[in-house]
Amino acid sequence: MDVSGQVWREHRSFAVHVLKELGYGKGSMEDRITDEISYLIKHIDETNGEPMNIHDVLTPSMSNNICHLVFGHRLDFNEPKRQTMDRMLDEASKVFSVIGVLMMTPLWLSQLMFKVVAMNKNKKFIKAFDVFNKEISSHQKSFEVNNRVNDYIDGYLAEMEVRQRKDPNTHFTLPRLMANCRAFFGAGSETVRTTTEWLLLLSVRYSEHQKRIHEEIDSVVGRDRSPCYADRLLLSVRYSEHQKRIHSEIDSVVGRDRSPCYADRLHMPFTQAFICLAKDTSDGKQVIKTEALIPFSMGKRNCVGETLGRVEVFLYFVSLLQRYTISAAIDGTVVSLEETFGLTLQPKNPMILRFEKRV
Ligand code: HEM
Repeated sequence: MDVSGQVWREHRSFAVHVLKELGYGKGSMEDRITDEISYLIKHIDETNGEPMNIHDVLTPSMSNNICHLVFGHRLDFNEPKRQTMDRMLDEASKVFSVIGVLMMTPLWLSQLMFKVVAMNKNKKFIKAFDVFNKEISSHQKSFEVNNRVNDYIDGYLAEMEVRQRKDPNTHFTLPRLMANCRAFFGAGSETVRTTTEWLLLLSVRYSEHQKRIHEEIDSVVGRDRSPCYADRLLLSVRYSEHQKRIHSEIDSVVGRDRSPCYADRLHMPFTQAFICLAKDTSDGKQVIKTEALIPFSMGKRNCVGETLGRVEVFLYFVSLLQRYTISAAIDGTVVSLEETFGLTLQPKNPMILRFEKRV
């Protein structure tokens, strides 16, 4: 959220509350993600194994999970509103890559420049913000206090009503709701997509790992049902395989003479991607957390959507590998793992890959 102090505290606490109310972290969240993945799979199947730019379908797919959370419904990939939002998300990445240097400047300055230079004057943003405004208006029309809360906007309107009655100067206002919608889409779409893209690229680059993952998914999940988050506890070979890679990556970046530090994360794209799937358990089978690897950050401002992010990345990756053998667009070429700076570190080259149905 793009605020601090008391405004942030109240909105952060409300966001945590509403996510819980809406069942985020429970089975219903998984069902919605699995449903969204089925639309993605339909689009990929239509390519019949010909090269495709997976980025173009992952963007709307991941963003639709945020649509569910914020608007209470998904948008079809072909809907103009969906396409407007996709253009905004891609534009946001570009803007962040241009002003990435501002991350190093004081927060107030980078926010000011981002607002003035990038967002307010950019037609792609203005059009997407219009989608948010329309959603908020239609929620206001259909909303009655005490109605069931179906999504974040509903929840916010209900909270705003109660707070405004008690205190006309409350921080809960329509402009703040609009800003929070932007924050959810900004924070919750590219992050998940980029992580999934790295996972796919890595599976292509290290095809021997892909084979192991296929075998393991076949034995744990099979082909007749969709994967669920609980499956991660059984997909241990993959974790231990990757754990070896992660250890070697840590060794090469950090060495053994010093403890890892936050700055090291920039040199560990592989680790960053895989760590998102990992969860600490005491059985020693899974990736060990190290201090340098904190993809969801730590402390009071850590990621509000960590659970959603973890579940999404896991279900997308396992569902795609369950169904497809993924390879480079041209046989025998080695996919590049070069990265470029956006909101997150993203694959630099277009994500053109082949998705061939497994027999
Ligand atoms: C792989 C997926 C994700 C990663 C790696 C990730 C990472 C992060 C990180 C590092 C931060 C802290 C930024 C800072 O230091 O200010 C953050 C904040 C945040 N994330 Fe995520 N995130 C992911 C997915 C999501 C999802 C799915 C949502 C949607 C619910 C989300 C919503 C947020 C919000 C609202 C904040 C701001 C929290 C605050 O200011 O209190 N994130 N995320």
